[in-house]
Amino acid sequence: MNRRYRKTVIAGNWKMNMTASETKKFAEEMKKIMPRAKWCDTLICVPSCNIATAAKAFKDLRIAVGAENVYYEEKGAYTGEVSANMLKDLAVKYVICGHSERRQYFGETDQIVNKKVHAVLDAGMNPIICVGETLDQRETGITGDWIALQVKGALYGVSADKLRRCIIAYEPIWAIGTGKTATAEQAGEVCGNIRATIRSLYGARVARSVTIQYGGSMNPKNAAELLAQPDIDGGLIGGAALKPEQFVDIINAANQD
Ligand code: PGA
Repeated sequence: MNRRYRKTVIAGNWKMNMTASETKKFAEEMKKIMPRAKWCDTLICVPSCNIATAAKAFKDLRIAVGAENVYYEEKGAYTGEVSANMLKDLAVKYVICGHSERRQYFGETDQIVNKKVHAVLDAGMNPIICVGETLDQRETGITGDWIALQVKGALYGVSADKLRRCIIAYEPIWAIGTGKTATAEQAGEVCGNIRATIRSLYGARVARSVTIQYGGSMNPKNAAELLAQPDIDGGLIGGAALKPEQFVDIINAANQD
């Protein structure tokens, strides 16, 4: 973390878990234990059908509501899709773009991710842009090149001004939901490389203001060590964000004085 230049952001990603009733129950539990997080912003990305419930339930908790996905067209005949303005109208502040599960199961390409990033920015929200390599890519030594390409693709045409509203989440695919975490050094190195890529595109001042998260089996045990890396400014948390105590432990790790 480097709080002098950028925000620390702890984000939950509930994926396709939690019904609306479970969302309310989670909020009740959180009310008892949520710390006053002075040093970090907190949010949870929830399934789109639960956004309205979450917005109400999280209101007094200082937890912002995020969406897990968006469609990039403004409106029209796209049955089943949800636009950026629809999310914005429900008080959504953050939208995950290009999560590896969407890339893998729903065929999202860098070009689609880029369109989503633009749609989210144009609607005045903050995209959380996910990038990450497979185990094969890591083992063949192409992680650096691959991630740089994903970052450049996602940010194509994004102005420096708008980039300040973007969060990049580095999520090695082999660490997601597997209980395997990248070591703090591995994660720190890639996040440092992401910042170097942004520096090459936008210059040093902009690059140092961008929040870069780590995601992939972050939990109460490994959070402090990961967050101690200078280029890791928060976490995108799946499994551990479904359990109030674990999520709070991670918030506390990010909120040390
Ligand atoms: P995980 O998920 O924490 O369960 O590994 C992270 C993510 O996919 O965002």
